[in-house]
Amino acid sequence: MGSIAVYPGSFDPITNGHIDLLERALKMFDEVIIAVAVNVGKEPLFTAKERLEMIKESLADHPLRDRVKVDLLHGLLVNYVQSIPASTIVRGLRAVSDFEYEFQMALMNRKLNAEIETAFIMTGMRWIYISSRIIKEVVRSGGDVAGLVPDGVAMKLLERLSHP
Ligand code: PNS
Repeated sequence: MGSIAVYPGSFDPITNGHIDLLERALKMFDEVIIAVAVNVGKEPLFTAKERLEMIKESLADHPLRDRVKVDLLHGLLVNYVQSIPASTIVRGLRAVSDFEYEFQMALMNRKLNAEIETAFIMTGMRWIYISSRIIKEVVRSGGDVAGLVPDGVAMKLLERLSHP
């Protein structure tokens, strides 16, 4: 069996920054499982199923799609990772501002299960300023996010945010 990493997140919605990170992770692992958290802190714009479907559609024509799985994440991340079984969590880092939250999560996950490690991968420079939150804010205010998210995601954002 090859190496497997779990890439967890809210993905509300997936952005090109997430896809960049996935591609980088696929250079290091044979398989990457994108785990879409069902319970996210803030009220998400899209349901977990919608978020999962958008990821699947965005990757449908991707040359590395056979090495990627997309799944829902219920409950604790470390329990999910162990159930695969995998032993690595992959997370992206954009700027120093991400670090504190990521550090806290990585150490809590280590406390919960010392067998599981978190690997941080730097996002490509092109995507350093992108987050799902800022993408939603731009669309809400009538801005264009073409090229920053997959085309299907841009359409769904327009549908959802222009018909509240
Ligand atoms: O994209 P996000 O919102 O930064 O991702 C956060 C996520 C989903 C990775 C985190 O909230 C998580 O792991 N949730 C699952 C529940 C869990 O295990 N929480 C404890 C993490 S320390």
